[in-house]
Amino acid sequence: MDSEWIPPDVDGQRPSVARVYDFLLGGRHNFASDRDLATGLLRIEPQARELAFANRAFLGRAVAAIAAAGVDQFVDLGSGIPTQGNVHEVAQRVNPGARVVYVDNDDVAVAHSRSILVGNDRATVIQADMRRPAEILAHPELTRLVDLSRPVAFLLVAALHLVKEEEDPAGIVATLRSAAAPGSHLVISHLTHETAPGKTAAIAKLYDRATSPAVPRSHAEILALFDGWDMLEPGLVYVPEWRPHEGETDPEPERFLVLGGVARTG
Ligand SMILES: C[S@@+](CC[C@H](N)C(=O)[O-])C[C@H]1O[C@@H](n2cnc3c(N)ncnc32)[C@H](O)[C@@H]1O
Repeated sequence: MDSEWIPPDVDGQRPSVARVYDFLLGGRHNFASDRDLATGLLRIEPQARELAFANRAFLGRAVAAIAAAGVDQFVDLGSGIPTQGNVHEVAQRVNPGARVVYVDNDDVAVAHSRSILVGNDRATVIQADMRRPAEILAHPELTRLVDLSRPVAFLLVAALHLVKEEEDPAGIVATLRSAAAPGSHLVISHLTHETAPGKTAAIAKLYDRATSPAVPRSHAEILALFDGWDMLEPGLVYVPEWRPHEGETDPEPERFLVLGGVARTG
C-alpha cells in the first residue's frame, strides 16, 4: 500500500478517532491499532458503519440546506479524514463561491485534507484543538477566508461527544455563538445514550484507549448545547430524521444512536 498519506512522526500505536471513523467509512487511512478498535466497536454495535454513513449523510443535507439559505462560509470543527461528500464539495456545488475552513487536531486528517485541497483557493485546513475555539477564530488561515461580520455556519458534527464535561463543550459553542453574526448557523450531531445505554457505555469504555474519549449524552444535554441559538425544524432528532430525502426515511431512526440538529442566530 502506498504510504504518502502518513505524516512523519505519526503515532500509529494509539487508535485515533479520526482513523477509526475513516475505517468505518471504507477509507484506507488507518493502521492496525485503529482497525482493532473498530473491530471492538463493531462487536458492540454491528451497525457502526451504517451509523457513520448516516451521520455523513446528515452532514451533507445540513450543509446543502444552509448553503441554499444563502450562507457561504463554513467552519467545520473536528472535520475528520475527508471521504466523499466533503463540506466544500457540497457547499461549492450549491454556491461555487462558498468558503470552507476545516479544523482537526489529527495529523493524518490534516495531512489528507491538505492534499485534497491543493488548488482550491476557497477551502483550507487548520491543525488546532476545538477545545480552544478562541484561538481558531483568531487563526490567520480562518480570518483569510472567513469574514465573521457576515453569517457563518459552524459545524460540530460527531465532534462534541469527543469532549469531556470538564473540558466544557457548552463553552466551545458559547464562544462560537459570541463570534457569530446574525444569520449564522450551528450544526451539531452527537452520540446519545437515550436508546441503548448499555451499548453506549461499552463504546465509551472502548474509547478510553483512543486519542479522544467518547461521551454519550442525553437528548436534553445535547439540546442544551444549542442554548442561545434558534433551533430549526425538525429540531434535535435522530440523524436520519433530519430532513430526509424523499424515499429515504428509516422505520427505526433511534437505532442510529446519534442525534442531530441545526440552529440559527436570530
Ligand atoms: C468522528 S470524526 C467526525 C468527522 C466529521 N465531522 C463527520 O462527522 O463526518 C471526529 C473528528 O474530530 C477530531 N477531533 C477529536 N478531538 C478533537 C479536538 N480536540 N480538536 C480538533 N479535532 C478533534 C478527530 O480527529 C476526528 O477527525
